[in-house]
Amino acid sequence: METVFDLAPAVVPVVVLDHVEDAVPLARALVDGGLTAIEITLRTPAALEAIQSVALGVPGAVVGAGTVLTPDHVAAAAAAGARFLVSPGWTDRLLDAMRGSGLPFLPGVSTATEALGLLERGVTDMKFFPAEAAGGPAYLRSLASPLPRARFCPTGGIDADRAPGYLRLPNVPCVGGSWMLPQDLLRARRWDEVTALAAKAAALGGS
Ligand code: 3PG
Repeated sequence: METVFDLAPAVVPVVVLDHVEDAVPLARALVDGGLTAIEITLRTPAALEAIQSVALGVPGAVVGAGTVLTPDHVAAAAAAGARFLVSPGWTDRLLDAMRGSGLPFLPGVSTATEALGLLERGVTDMKFFPAEAAGGPAYLRSLASPLPRARFCPTGGIDADRAPGYLRLPNVPCVGGSWMLPQDLLRARRWDEVTALAAKAAALGGS
């Protein structure tokens, strides 16, 4: 089955969107900069409609839902056209629902025990959250030897300076973050500048 890591370049922008009308220009700006996999978090009333607008209206974008917390969120995200699901943590109920959706998903972990719980259930691809607060690259480096099958997308507190320290690790195919989407640019709808920041972020992934 296709995984989130198959869909995503090395950097996944994490979007919190207040105005649904911004979804398409924002997604276009990110795709133009080379960030094609876009996580829209289910933290605002605009999120589901935003996912739908991007899924229908932005060729080249692979839009996913973030902050997926419940089976209802899974169903709503899938109905809106999300291509992948991301959660800050996991429970058995949530995991069952994510699996049942048929979509690629990244459940969140921040400890070795939580990662082990996912490996036991056959899930190898995870979000590491909140990455900086939970131990940063040093923590993930320490997990590579005891948990060689686990692969992580760290997010939370990562910026352009910190991202390379994660992307260097053998167990980190991609990182997520909102650093290329500063609030002042979004409020002013300065999409060209978002594209420039996205291009810099995309370049962190190398070729
Ligand atoms: C999140 O789910 O909020 C992501 O981890 C993004 O975190 P950031 O805004 O600190 O980059």
